[in-house]
Amino acid sequence: MSRNFNFGFIIFTCLLMVSCFDPSKPNYQYFPNMYESVGYETYEESKAFSNGFEMQLPVEGTIPRGWIPYEYEDTNEGYDLAKTNLFSPLKKDEKNLSQGKELYAIYCAVCHGSKGDGQGILTKREKFLGIPSYADRDITEGSVYHVLMHGRNLMGSHASQVDVKERWQITQYVMSLRENLVK
Ligand code: HEC
Repeated sequence: MSRNFNFGFIIFTCLLMVSCFDPSKPNYQYFPNMYESVGYETYEESKAFSNGFEMQLPVEGTIPRGWIPYEYEDTNEGYDLAKTNLFSPLKKDEKNLSQGKELYAIYCAVCHGSKGDGQGILTKREKFLGIPSYADRDITEGSVYHVLMHGRNLMGSHASQVDVKERWQITQYVMSLRENLVK
């Protein structure tokens, strides 16, 4: 009798548990915050800000981490000022030079050629014209850095592709290419 009762009790409990399970609703969650973000969605509307959006522009005058303001303007005067007044803060050593060489191969050689003579693959295939040899330009560390920041005529800015240190490493390598060309 008692065995039958136990058996019946187990069946009853199982049925009770199954009958409460509704597959159309989520089950109990262990640590619900792990599954459902408590943060706000980027493009959500919000009452917290006067313009009604969750996403806000940075406060005026703030500078992104890792970004150093560049004071020379994108004008001919800015170019001339950078050319005479701007100098590399990096040591002229093998490490910087070899890193500059690697970056140059990635970002510049397609146009300027691996020697800096303007004979990159795009010039050879006549896809991009007007690329000078560094030997024919009166460039300085400052002017190369300036051109990397702002671009010049047909050459676009590379400021978003390489950071401050990388720009100076590339500059060091460009100046060394020029020295070899004008020897
Ligand atoms: C898409 C092709 C292209 C790429 C890529 C390119 N350049 Fe240029 N670059 C040019 C052209 C075209 C000019 C000539 C601009 C002009 O009319 O003065 C130029 C000019 C220059 C000059 C001479 C500017 C002056 O002061 O007279 C320097 C220095 C220079 N580039 C460096 C670089 C470096 C460093 C890189 C890589 C980070 C690079 N360029 C990538 C096309 C390119």
